[in-house]
Amino acid sequence: MPNTVVVGTQWGDEGKGKIVDLLTAEADVVVRYQGGNNAGHTLVVEGKKFIFHLIPSGILYEGKKCLIGNGLVVDPGILLKEMENLEKAGIRVDPERLALSEKAHVIMPYHKAVDLAREAAKGKEKIGTTGRGIGPCYEDKAARIGIRAIDLTEPETLEKKIKACLKEKNFYLQQFLDGQALDEKEVLKETLAYGKKLSSFLTDVSLEMEEALKRKKNILFEGAQGTHLDIDHGTYPFVTSSNPVAGAACAGAGVGPGQLHHVVGVVKAYTTRVGAGPFVTELTDGTGDYIQERGKEFGSTTGRRRRCGWLDLVVLKDSARLNGLNSLAITKLDVLTGLDTLRVCVGYEWKGQRLPSRPASLSKFAECTPVYQELHGWQEDISGARQLADLPAQARTYLDVIQEKTGVPLSIVSVGPARKETIMIKNPFHSS
Ligand code: GDP
Ligand code: IMO
Ligand code: MG
Repeated sequence: MPNTVVVGTQWGDEGKGKIVDLLTAEADVVVRYQGGNNAGHTLVVEGKKFIFHLIPSGILYEGKKCLIGNGLVVDPGILLKEMENLEKAGIRVDPERLALSEKAHVIMPYHKAVDLAREAAKGKEKIGTTGRGIGPCYEDKAARIGIRAIDLTEPETLEKKIKACLKEKNFYLQQFLDGQALDEKEVLKETLAYGKKLSSFLTDVSLEMEEALKRKKNILFEGAQGTHLDIDHGTYPFVTSSNPVAGAACAGAGVGPGQLHHVVGVVKAYTTRVGAGPFVTELTDGTGDYIQERGKEFGSTTGRRRRCGWLDLVVLKDSARLNGLNSLAITKLDVLTGLDTLRVCVGYEWKGQRLPSRPASLSKFAECTPVYQELHGWQEDISGARQLADLPAQARTYLDVIQEKTGVPLSIVSVGPARKETIMIKNPFHSS
């Protein structure tokens, strides 16, 4: 069966967690390949809500292996807390079910301190990061001064690295950001203690993947964030510091490009964004509030109110190209119920000129106005729909427009947060 990648096509929070949870039924291995605990993936299973920040959303199934790839930045305290919460909920978490790449970079206390202090210093110009130290950790990775998970098991190496790094960080924190210096001994002690707890979970994820591929196991790659938060292709600088696009699954999990067979793009039926940055279809009126309230659009990680707007098909067309999408999973269609008229953005206008795609210049993008196509809404509760034919004609037309404008077929339509509130058109694992 085809190995499948699940990616966000917008600005994150599309409902990837629910889709990954659904597809895990057919998978043997679920692997995350980028990002960190800036992600918040929500699952509702048998009426219980689970939010995962680092552990792959496949963990609720027995007999599946969950892997945290080398492409992630991992906060060990958060990972341990997440493991502990699962154990408390009666879900076993041991090295047979969960493993962490030895090569994943570790989010250190100074990364969080720099992230928060920098955002505070930027004031109105801030990115609106999650404050989890994601950017500063990826910076150190690229600067080749990062600390990797394997280092936590080698006290001498760790001490040397922290010593070398902290001197510079403390200078920057104190002298430039008006922040507090961190104590070297405390940082070392805390990090070594994490290392002791996590050492049995460390593995070479690439070798595990090779073994699984040899044994013809089904692999599910779980993306975090979304295509337009991608550091290369997103609305830079209002982006995250990794590559959420599907291609990054190879580097971030240690497999070759030939191992990715099907890419599912998760599309929320409207658009949301947390944090700052231009958002052409944003609604700041009562309709925006209606969607925000019905969709319970609060961030799963930071609790911030998400900005809401109409579906942007220009964004989706870019995502189809950037990820090589094979199918779309539409989520939260039920949230649009009750609106008389719906709008979808089919193009951008800039100074009277129609643009073919999102411009790279952020100031130009901020000046773009949306060109809308209007569609009829529906009033019926659609959460009980289990096949396309159960949907009102207006909802089917809405889906047809998405399919037609992106040129990508639909595989899944989600009409509620629960597993069963789903229309499975064609399971990506069953496509050839
Ligand atoms: P992710 O980061 O992409 O996994 O998305 P989040 O978990 O941050 O946000 C999606 C939210 O929408 C979660 O609270 C889900 O439980 C919820 N959700 C997912 N699919 C649906 C759906 O089809 N309808 C409704 N009403 N809620 C959904
Ligand atoms: P999931 O996986 C939505 C946003 C932040 C901020 C920007 C940079 O749940 O879809 P960072 O802390 O990464 O440096 O913040 O990216 N952001 C997300 N927005 N969903 C996410 O993850 C996000 N992860 C980061 O709000 O605007
Ligand atoms: Mg989320």
